[in-house]
Amino acid sequence: MDLKSLIRDIPDFPKPGILFRDVTTLLSDPAGLRYTIDLLAQKCSEIELEVDYIIGMESRGFIFGAPVAYKLGAGFIPVRKKGKLPAAVHSIEYQLEYGTDTLEVHQDALKPGCKILIVDDLIATGGTASATAKLVQKIDCELIGFGFIIELRDLQGRKHLPDVPIISLVEY
Ligand code: PRP
Ligand code: ADE
Ligand code: MG
Repeated sequence: MDLKSLIRDIPDFPKPGILFRDVTTLLSDPAGLRYTIDLLAQKCSEIELEVDYIIGMESRGFIFGAPVAYKLGAGFIPVRKKGKLPAAVHSIEYQLEYGTDTLEVHQDALKPGCKILIVDDLIATGGTASATAKLVQKIDCELIGFGFIIELRDLQGRKHLPDVPIISLVEY
């Protein structure tokens, strides 16, 4: 299936000069959504069959991470933006392609030694994914890889990630 044909390009959003890769058009396509989740889950399972948790980042990482967790028989752990999680958190500030933000995870969400995979819709500069990896490292888990639908190659985000397998389904 041609996933690129289901991803919409919006120039100058949210700022001038950013070409926004909009996955809402992929999500609303029944066959496209199923194919995307099935393929990402398949590729993730090829890294490692036994994964304890998928970590997904608010908000688009929730949409793709939770169904991949379901398919792999793993749990899902949300990494949320500042102030949303109710119990004690680890926090990290990070750079976006268009600003800065803070991500948080519950301190007791992960058990030491667990195997985790980080899933998001897109990697641009890698700021979000590398901040999430650093959050997870605070908990002494084994990060086994990253899964993205979209990779923006020119921004070289993968250079900022730890040396583990990185999956992306579509590259620009
Ligand atoms: C977008 C996207 C990734 C991140 C990638 O999220 O969903 O999470 O940017 O950019 P990076 O590699 O430069 O960090 P955004 O923070 O815009 O929020 P959203 O998921 O809530 O839409
Ligand atoms: N997140 C960061 N950069 C993005 C882009 N160009 N399109 C969609 N989401 C993004
Ligand atoms: Mg996001």
